[in-house]
Amino acid sequence: MTENRPGIDLTVPLTDPAFYADDPYPLFARLRAEAPIAWNEELGFWALSKHADVLEVSKDPYRFCSGRGILLMDLRRELPDVPGALLYVDPPEHGRYRRLVQPAFAPSKIRALEPVIRQRARVLLDHVSPNEPVDVVEALAVPFPLLVIADMLGVPERDWPDMRRWTDALIELATEPSEENNAIAAEMATYFLERIAERAVDPGDDLVSTLATVTVDGEKLDEAELMMFCGQLLVAGNETTRNLISAGLVALAEHPDQWERLVADAELISRAVEELLRWTTPVISFMRTATVDTEIGGLPIAEGDHLLLLYASANRDEEVFGPTADQLDVGREPNAQLAFGFGEHYCIGAALARLEGRIMLEELLQRFRRVEPAGPVTRLASTVIAGITSAPLVFS
Ligand code: HEM
Repeated sequence: MTENRPGIDLTVPLTDPAFYADDPYPLFARLRAEAPIAWNEELGFWALSKHADVLEVSKDPYRFCSGRGILLMDLRRELPDVPGALLYVDPPEHGRYRRLVQPAFAPSKIRALEPVIRQRARVLLDHVSPNEPVDVVEALAVPFPLLVIADMLGVPERDWPDMRRWTDALIELATEPSEENNAIAAEMATYFLERIAERAVDPGDDLVSTLATVTVDGEKLDEAELMMFCGQLLVAGNETTRNLISAGLVALAEHPDQWERLVADAELISRAVEELLRWTTPVISFMRTATVDTEIGGLPIAEGDHLLLLYASANRDEEVFGPTADQLDVGREPNAQLAFGFGEHYCIGAALARLEGRIMLEELLQRFRRVEPAGPVTRLASTVIAGITSAPLVFS
């Protein structure tokens, strides 16, 4: 079943969280060159490292489903049955859920958030002193998306510390189920059930109210689905955006020429956000399962085979990004980056994440002329999230 050259298994480290805390990109480059569709014997999955193949699988949710797992760790556990867990639902049910939650993410709703989000960024940046090292993870990257989601969900300030605790527990729960994390998840569920009940009778301007009242073709989300979706937003919207911001700022500090380009030309900021999404690819990979005997890149794939879509590798594919694929270029255009996935499950929060990235860069560039590394960066050991746990930088 292996596509690798005899005697070489290029895919083994892909299942090891520690591998990603180092630098996975040299291995991705070898995979693209030597075994673009490579079989992993240990867990039994194909690793897809080329842009074209990741795209082809993402575009066809009937041939390659999400319902049989999207994380490597799903291969080691029985999948929980969770209503409304968008990421795990396949068409046609997926379309129903998506239609019901989409109105909360309509472009007009996201645009309307800009002043509040900018205000959040400004308050956080008021605590960043020039010429003094600051850990951008704790100072900016962690609180910023958390506050934005708290605003969207209508969570009042007194409950923010709980939000942080719930989010951390839910993120951990996705990879390390424990009794304590389950109890915290249940606590969060009770909290959102109460908010949902309140908003259903007295709707406000927030996302919970929109979700609690929206009807499509006479259908509504039920309470369990609503609660699941709120929890999913906390996980999907926090750690991802957190790492776009932390890893994005580290990338700019390590490439002063690219920061200089932004200082000289603020028009480049939107393109820079796309490039930082490509460069950091906060979600390393998601998985699919073949629903029929089929083929990819001329290679036979059997029904039931799992396919790991390596977004991080696809985003450095020389065939798409040319000879500069391995260079950070804040003016890159076009930029067909796949950090938000593609097709049916395309990230519902993409516009929000882009807006947060743009605002953070705009506000930083308003205040500071330089950014430099101020100590070692530590990275998260995770097979899913390309994360940074601390990053001391100096702004001046
Ligand atoms: C830089 C930030 C982000 C990145 C890199 C990211 C990445 C992704 C990716 C790759 C997918 C596709 C999953 C698949 O194909 O199986 C996805 C889906 C999703 N994202 Fe994001 N995301 C980000 C921010 C957000 C935010 C801010 C929210 C919400 C507040 C969000 C909510 C979701 C949801 C609910 C889905 C599931 C969509 C579906 O299955 O139909 N994400 N995201």
